[in-house]
Amino acid sequence: MAGKNILVIHGPNLNMLGKREPGIYGSTTLDDINSELVKKASLKDIAIDTFQSNHEGAIVDRIQDAYKKFSGLIINPAAYTHTSVAIRDALLLLDVPIIEVHISNIHKREPFRHHSYVSDIATGQIVGLGVKGYYLALEALSEMLK
Ligand code: DQA
Repeated sequence: MAGKNILVIHGPNLNMLGKREPGIYGSTTLDDINSELVKKASLKDIAIDTFQSNHEGAIVDRIQDAYKKFSGLIINPAAYTHTSVAIRDALLLLDVPIIEVHISNIHKREPFRHHSYVSDIATGQIVGLGVKGYYLALEALSEMLK
């Protein structure tokens, strides 16, 4: 690992941002978010890798691949937040700061969204601030990595 680098993982259905329930998730697309993250990070000399999958195992594989290769992780596990012990277990492999991001405020929504398998093992959680949450997560990580 040469300079600082952050992996950003987006879970299922986040590839449909912009089209998907815009009243909840807004009109920004995933490509918009990823390019904004790359732009903001490059100003801080941080490299960004992004990954989206609708498949739990593919996300587990990507987390395993990240072992010892990244300085930090931003993850929105989307619906798997509320169901996936496998993603939680994979995250426990990593010994770098992890920021969990949710575009919506999961605590204000249906009861099944209130529990996260990730929040108690993440360094921090950002919820309900829209896509800005991703940029705030980058800010937080870049401070931590100084
Ligand atoms: C989400 C919240 C989850 O409950 C939901 O399943 C998602 C998106 C969010 O970013 O607000 O897909 O993680």
